[in-house]
Amino acid sequence: MPADKKKLHFCVFPHGGPLAWRIAGSTTEGYLDFEWYKRVARTAEEGLFDALFIADNVAINHWLTGMAAADRIGNAVCFEPFTLLSALAAVTEHIGLMATASTTYNHPFHVARMFASLDHLSGGRAGWNVVTSKSPSEAANFGLLDEIKSADRYVRANEFVDVVKGLWDSWDDDAFVRDKQTGAFYDASKMHPLNHAGAQFRVEGPLNVPRPPQGHPVLCQAGQSEDGLNLAARTADLIFNNKHSVEGNRALRADVRARAAKAGRDPDELLFMPGVFVVVGGTEEEARRKITDARDSVDETTAKRFLQPFLPSIDLMPMEFDAPPPDTPDVREAAGSMGVVLEEDGRRLSIRQLCTSFGNHWRQFELVGTPEQIADRMAEWFEAGVIDGFNLMTLTNPDGYADIAEGVVPLLQKRGIYREGYEGKTLRETLGLSRPGLG
Ligand SMILES: Cc1cc2nc3c(=O)[nH]c(=O)nc-3n(C[C@H](O)[C@H](O)[C@H](O)COP(=O)(O)O)c2cc1C
Repeated sequence: MPADKKKLHFCVFPHGGPLAWRIAGSTTEGYLDFEWYKRVARTAEEGLFDALFIADNVAINHWLTGMAAADRIGNAVCFEPFTLLSALAAVTEHIGLMATASTTYNHPFHVARMFASLDHLSGGRAGWNVVTSKSPSEAANFGLLDEIKSADRYVRANEFVDVVKGLWDSWDDDAFVRDKQTGAFYDASKMHPLNHAGAQFRVEGPLNVPRPPQGHPVLCQAGQSEDGLNLAARTADLIFNNKHSVEGNRALRADVRARAAKAGRDPDELLFMPGVFVVVGGTEEEARRKITDARDSVDETTAKRFLQPFLPSIDLMPMEFDAPPPDTPDVREAAGSMGVVLEEDGRRLSIRQLCTSFGNHWRQFELVGTPEQIADRMAEWFEAGVIDGFNLMTLTNPDGYADIAEGVVPLLQKRGIYREGYEGKTLRETLGLSRPGLG
């Protein structure tokens, strides 16, 4: 197998869905238990995974779930991502550390400084999941009566990212000479104040942190709207999505690559990673039983209260739990705009299946079976040339990741599409991305 053959990349999304904490074997205090995070991160390193991805919101209840089900939600409370990832940086060596940070409820100077610091602390392993924070509950924490309109959030986000990248370029890599003889701590000719004056921000700079080891920490984006896709194409290295098929991924990839080329970027610099929910069993039946047991861990009332805000045009409460919701234009439209996929393999899903798959794993595409079946399916998607890797969710962590590391990874290695060891030091090197030069 040629050493330079393209390899699959794995990110891990350890928080699971909002109702996953009730599944047998799930940790109930996981999101506030540092030892648990350590085990997850170390399992990911044993599996030679690329990065740990910490989703985040700046409000107690997860976006869009509505207050009716808020007290049922496991990730209602969690650590602030930078604090957590700084601590994890000290107990890990290779795994990338990706924090979610909002462009709506932060200032670019703070964000540039935090990511530059995390990148230095971790030896070049920081990544930024750029989000624009769409929920009213987040707006309410920052003195607003309602969420900011999507278009306005993205206008701010575009300028925000440009300012952050500009601040990361405040210094040449070799600006800090620290010469005791001459007394020069830095070479002033290698300092580049930003002097940014735009419609949204005025930022003089320079940043009070040296240039990050990666030049720019890795940027990732998961926005699915037109504006979200344009922001991703213009600025992101890594694109997460929730597409459930090879065809869906092919179309998204072609679309975003065309947008990137139009924005003057090399489309090969963008990596695409759909979310997948992986459940491994000794046999397919055993793996399927794990999913059914997980479904049964959520009671009908909670499940319906949880899904209700996603399908506002119907009243779920009186409906049969094991039948699909009505197939009406209203339902289809609401589901489409909220990202609720109503069918799988041509079959309409029951309300129970919709609620629990949403609650347990945000309706990520399900890959369920033996290690061989899962490796075959991953290879099929990868070899179709439509994805670069997967953002992995499992039923319970870290054992779900251990199942992948021990069962699936060796099979992918045998096919020559998974690394045999970490080749580089930084997250960019691990992902095969180039280091940006000074802008
Ligand atoms: C895999 C994945 C992870 C996401 N993580 C977060 C997150 O941590 N915080 C957040 O506010 N939004 C998160 N989102 C939501 C997106 O950032 C985005 O707001 C959403 O997809 C709607 O797209 P739009 O804003 O372009 O309309 C995530 C979306 C996906 C698909």
